[in-house]
Amino acid sequence: MERREFLRKSVWTALGSAIAGTGLMQAFNHISNDKSKTNKMKIVVLTGSPRKNGNSTYLAEQFIKGAEEQGHEVFRFDCAFNQVEPCRACNRCGMNGPCIFQDDFLKLRPHLIEADMVVFATPMYYFGISAQMKRVIDRFYAINGQIKGAPKKAAFLMTYADTSRTEAEPMLVHYHTLMDYLGWTSVGEVVASGVWTAGSVRNTDYPQQAYRMGKSL
Ligand SMILES: Cc1cc2nc3c(=O)[nH]c(=O)nc-3n(C[C@H](O)[C@H](O)[C@H](O)COP(=O)(O)O)c2cc1C
Repeated sequence: MERREFLRKSVWTALGSAIAGTGLMQAFNHISNDKSKTNKMKIVVLTGSPRKNGNSTYLAEQFIKGAEEQGHEVFRFDCAFNQVEPCRACNRCGMNGPCIFQDDFLKLRPHLIEADMVVFATPMYYFGISAQMKRVIDRFYAINGQIKGAPKKAAFLMTYADTSRTEAEPMLVHYHTLMDYLGWTSVGEVVASGVWTAGSVRNTDYPQQAYRMGKSL
């Protein structure tokens, strides 16, 4: 082999190793797998109501309908119907590792890490998100290192009986503060007020808002 050819090959080999070693390769792979070419997203939808035919679940279903019609892949996780222990703050995971609990969160964990978008659909319980959903969010702790700063989108769907917008503010502040912390981008919220009995949201325009949100992705 001629010296000049050898040098050229060595330079490319060295460059290849350097790229692979620095994570630049991941960037190149990312570009070659660029989802923007297909625009199809992996979406995780978390529902927080224990009511099977509840209002927030119906909003989630309408969102999912719109998103699936657009070809997005949806993984739905019903927080109230899965066995998820509350975080015990043992810190064994170090905010980025295996959790001591081997429960249903394991089914959700890989989907959350891979998701391009996460949707939170919850009823208002005493001015906050439901305990069923909060329990699941607290378990994000063990994957914090993998989801914080990841370029994810998010949306918030909430239902409550009262009609005052002011009473929705604590939940909206919580959601937006969480998004700021995680570095995720909110694409919007559906704030469904005045819905008390299960299914009453069906007689309002809110399901249409949730559907349009999914359809617009
Ligand atoms: C434990 C509990 C707490 C609630 N707290 C509130 C509240 O603080 N403000 C409110 O307007 N409605 C409150 N509600 C009513 C629910 O938010 C409302 O019925 C909502 O539509 C339920 O959504 P779902 O059908 O998705 O479960 C509460 C209901 C329950 C069961």
